[in-house]
Amino acid sequence: MTNPPGYSIESVDLQTATKAEIQEIAQFRQDLALEQRPEDPPTPIEVITQWLRARPPGQWRVVFVARDRDLKLAGYGVGARNLKDTQNAHIRWSEIAVKPEHRRRGLGRALFAHVLGSFKGQGDELTVISETTDRVPSGEAFAQAIGAKPGLPMKMNQLDLAAVDRRKVREWSEAAPKGYRLEQIDDTVPEEFVKAYIEASEGINDMPRGDIAFKDWKLTEAQIRQRESFFKQAGLTWWLLLAIDEQTGAGVGFTEVEFNPSDPHAIQQEGTAVVAAHRGRGIGLWLKAVMLGRILAQRPDSHFIRTGNANVNAQMLAINEKLGFTYAWQSTLWQLPMADARKALAGAEAPARA
Ligand SMILES: CC(C)(COP(=O)(O)OP(=O)(O)OC[C@H]1O[C@@H](n2cnc3c(N)ncnc32)[C@H](O)[C@@H]1OP(=O)(O)O)[C@@H](O)C(=O)NCCC(=O)NCCS
Repeated sequence: MTNPPGYSIESVDLQTATKAEIQEIAQFRQDLALEQRPEDPPTPIEVITQWLRARPPGQWRVVFVARDRDLKLAGYGVGARNLKDTQNAHIRWSEIAVKPEHRRRGLGRALFAHVLGSFKGQGDELTVISETTDRVPSGEAFAQAIGAKPGLPMKMNQLDLAAVDRRKVREWSEAAPKGYRLEQIDDTVPEEFVKAYIEASEGINDMPRGDIAFKDWKLTEAQIRQRESFFKQAGLTWWLLLAIDEQTGAGVGFTEVEFNPSDPHAIQQEGTAVVAAHRGRGIGLWLKAVMLGRILAQRPDSHFIRTGNANVNAQMLAINEKLGFTYAWQSTLWQLPMADARKALAGAEAPARA
């Protein structure tokens, strides 16, 4: 696919990019975040820069930047895959962004074509996945235009930490289900808990996944170390809480959060799960309440906890509602089989050539 007139597109390696190059991209990411969440304070540029440079082992990534005639940044496209996630070797992630003043000139499509081109030779059975939010309608319109289908609609929920009922959180934290204990793990999973964490993570596979093409997730020690490496390189703190069956020592549930101490506004709560045989005993609420209690005590400069849940995940949404989480926005994972992506781009180019 040819670039729109007046624009050039080239790949860039974020590890070796100059300070000026990376800051230009970081500035644009800061602007994009404000477009999506104008109510949030801007994430400091150094925080974004560090995040961009982070490169854990086994993460494959290509970045293309589009520049205008004055060589100013106009947009970027990212393609990524996780070589350590062997269950999901068919998944490729894509993120496309174009500065508002350069939109609707075909740059988004051209960047996407470059990202697709970078997947060449990796097999035809790939599925490309991208995320959009309803806060930025152009993203959804673009996803539709390239032929992607919504695979997993999710609700982004957030908890206003100033409004939390602390007495209730204390009550739920103290109501430990009999026969279980919690292990608090920060940043690095000690060798003795790797097995229990892998066992506990199994619960996440029962999460409703809509139509999205993800296969079951089989956590391995290599993946644990990979994530730890990413968090450290990106300057993020990672707190993991593990529920252990005291009789067998098996891991039965977990919840985890991450945040950057230099950008404390919103704490991200990632996975929470309890394995099937141990559900219905209050372990999920207990895990989340204990984590919340710790955040309230130790992160006074944070304002929100944010978490994404599939629209159809009734159990998790019910726990979150009880804790006081409220709906903030809708986000959607879009998917596009590789063959359809090529067709969509070829179709878009045909009229221009005619
Ligand atoms: C989504 C985004 C990358 C599109 O970039 P772009 O350069 O404007 O995209 P293109 O010009 O190649 O548009 C391709 C097609 O997408 C559709 N489209 C894009 N933006 C649209 C909008 N605001 N309204 C309606 N349709 C739109 C159109 O069908 C368009 O073709 P047309 O202009 O011939 O009608 C840009 O709007 C953006 O950066 N948004 C914020 C980031 C984001 O949400 N990215 C998520 C995508 S992974």
